[in-house]
Amino acid sequence: MEQKKVYNHKKITSDYAARDYLDKAEASIIESLKPYLKDMSMLDMGVGAGRTTKYFLPLVNCYIGADYAPNMIEECRRKFSQRNIFEVADVRDMRKFADNMFDFVLFSYNGIDSFAEKSRIAALCEIKRVLRNNGFFAFSTHNINWDGIFDISRFRNIYRKLIKKNGNNFFKRIPLFFKSFYFLLRLKILNKTLMMTSYIKRLQKEGHGILADNSLNGKVKIYYSSFSYQLKQLKAFGFYNIKAYSVNGLETCDEAELNKGGWIYYLCQLKK
Ligand SMILES: C[S@@+](CC[C@H](N)C(=O)[O-])C[C@H]1O[C@@H](n2cnc3c(N)ncnc32)[C@H](O)[C@@H]1O
Repeated sequence: MEQKKVYNHKKITSDYAARDYLDKAEASIIESLKPYLKDMSMLDMGVGAGRTTKYFLPLVNCYIGADYAPNMIEECRRKFSQRNIFEVADVRDMRKFADNMFDFVLFSYNGIDSFAEKSRIAALCEIKRVLRNNGFFAFSTHNINWDGIFDISRFRNIYRKLIKKNGNNFFKRIPLFFKSFYFLLRLKILNKTLMMTSYIKRLQKEGHGILADNSLNGKVKIYYSSFSYQLKQLKAFGFYNIKAYSVNGLETCDEAELNKGGWIYYLCQLKK
């Protein structure tokens, strides 16, 4: 299924609408930006159902939340009284936003991983266009060197996760056992490989690539990258002062710390 259709699905939008927490790393990013936020014009791209709106809207001078899934934007408008601060827009073509319009662009919760390299480049070009000189960009992205990356395709791990989700009831165990086999087979089909471990190792070597990891019930494929590849990509686009945050909210360049998490969070500035 096309990724946009998945995100626009009512079940998915209401699932995102129920979330209102901030990750530790996101809280650290807010802390780093605190001195500047009150003067900032912010674009919350891939805002989903507005999880981050509650935290940023009161802190910034001007806020726009945007998403390419109209039903996500409907959820935002239902949740917040300021209906006109939400727009339907695709990050790869943001023509409704002028050049240099924002001081800060956020693309949270790995929204930028929803598409492959060519679209990622288009997204970064557009983010660069709408950001002012020295403007900030924050996002998170899937980490191909995550310590637990190989668990994605381990039968035992898939089974345990299903048991955790559905309860360890004796009568459920047999159907969940077969469901785990189905999930494993689906992973191999989606990634077009019988050898998931070798496939993941290849992506690690290349530093980036597309991996179906059973997210959103196997309906989406996700862009994964390594810390060093992501740094290189950001620098190539003119980003500087690049800070990385681990899943524990620590700002660090220590890969052992960063690889504790399936996602790495970044905050950087743009030199135009
Ligand atoms: C994983 S969800 C995260 C939603 C929200 N940021 C949050 O933290 O709850 C990713 C979001 O990015 C949006 N998205 C993905 N690709 C996009 C694109 N090309 N343009 C705009 N939004 C996009 C999806 O519709 C979805 O709402």
